[in-house]
Amino acid sequence: MGFPKSFLWGGATAANQCEGGIFEDGRGLANVDVCPSGVDRSAVITGQMEMLSIDGEHKYPAAEAIDMYHHFREDISLFGEMGFQVYRMSIAWTRIFPEGDEDTPNEAGLAFYEEVFRECRKHGIEPLVTISHFDCPVGLIKKYGGWRSRRMIEDYLKLCRVLFTRYRDYVRYWLTFNEINMILHAPFMGAGLCFAPGEDEEQIKYQAAHHELVASALATKMAHEINPENKVGCMFAAGSAYPYSCKPEDVWEALLTDQENYFFVDVQARGYYPSYAVKRLKKRQVYPAMEPGDEDILREYPVDFISFSYYNSRCIAAAGSQEEAEGNLFKSAKNPYLEFSQWGWPIDPLGLRITLNQVYDRYQKPLFIVENGLGAKDEPDENGYVEDDYRIRYLRSHIRAMKAAVEEDGIDLMGYTAWAPIDLISAGTGEMKKRYGFIYVDKNEDGTGSLRRSRKKSFAWYKQVIASNGECLE
Ligand code: BG6
Repeated sequence: MGFPKSFLWGGATAANQCEGGIFEDGRGLANVDVCPSGVDRSAVITGQMEMLSIDGEHKYPAAEAIDMYHHFREDISLFGEMGFQVYRMSIAWTRIFPEGDEDTPNEAGLAFYEEVFRECRKHGIEPLVTISHFDCPVGLIKKYGGWRSRRMIEDYLKLCRVLFTRYRDYVRYWLTFNEINMILHAPFMGAGLCFAPGEDEEQIKYQAAHHELVASALATKMAHEINPENKVGCMFAAGSAYPYSCKPEDVWEALLTDQENYFFVDVQARGYYPSYAVKRLKKRQVYPAMEPGDEDILREYPVDFISFSYYNSRCIAAAGSQEEAEGNLFKSAKNPYLEFSQWGWPIDPLGLRITLNQVYDRYQKPLFIVENGLGAKDEPDENGYVEDDYRIRYLRSHIRAMKAAVEEDGIDLMGYTAWAPIDLISAGTGEMKKRYGFIYVDKNEDGTGSLRRSRKKSFAWYKQVIASNGECLE
């Protein structure tokens, strides 16, 4: 009983939220670099306010982030000390292709990730690489409008070919796009989309999504051709939608919300547009233009496994009159039975077990939880030590729920990577003070701080969780 011996424990980060060094060694500018913190962030990440360069008025948290570009050895060594078996990380596309469409890749960028992978291997850590974690070169946004253009497929596949070939000996596990369903909620951050007044945003989003889905299928094909041992996964922002009440209208709205999110995985895992999507997108006149052969590509190259982030469940009411709760980038009705984080996100460990069951029932493919964690304000002592019992409580309850799903429900689960093992920049708000880590980073909201790393209480706790393969959770 318990977790299988092959279960992979670790943590997850994204390049733009931790690396910094955005102008170093030939790196080009990406969408995520130009998402400012503060009041304009929401308008920028949703594509309502065009920002394609760095101006003197805003603060851009990705510019330095936690400077992992220069601290990666120390950071990976701390992950090793915790006993990580897997480290989920992402590639900054513009370190490899600064504008996105050069003929040859930037060797300095490739060498950087090679060093990162070597460091992982040194500590016995398996890398799990997200090819695009909210990452799109500004060069391609200026030229083609990001993923609204089919041309992006070609540039993305060029990146994939370089990665699969160069890192053939280092990486086995790949994810094509982080939280692919976020394109509907944060389309600039998710896919480099900015909208002009009067444009049909739904149509553009579903067209861009189609391009990403085709790109994901072709990347899966390519990964298998280059190395048959490669395992490729999709990744979506999960969290089951609960009906606010047993009123059939609430149940129906909840089902629609789930379908909106499952749509992407339905295509990536089953290989075709589900009938509900065909009907509804056509009715709304937003069904994407397809090229001959697209349907074959989607059908022939489904993913090997399904990964997802889980922070909270959602609660859906038909009337829309209920009080709202925050959540991972989108709001829903406030669930009266749950507690909430300092950022107003519901805390629902059983929801993770429910989500695991629903996803597994639907696809019958191996699953991987690649993000789960609690964003909270930490108060370090003079040594940088944080008594983060609240974080331990959150993680313990979620790991228990995951254990029950494996032991009692028979879910085929490959592993668990906590978001995030080290404090980093929040994707939703751009804040530094929303901390997730087992490792505290001395950096303040105003950008000051020594960047010194220190172990929180949760560091030793997670180490023991891993050492006992999830048996010792106290
Ligand atoms: C997911 C993303 O949306 O949630 C991460 O994949 C992100 O990039 C995480 O950081 C937590 O959200 P936030 O807004 O608290 O950083």
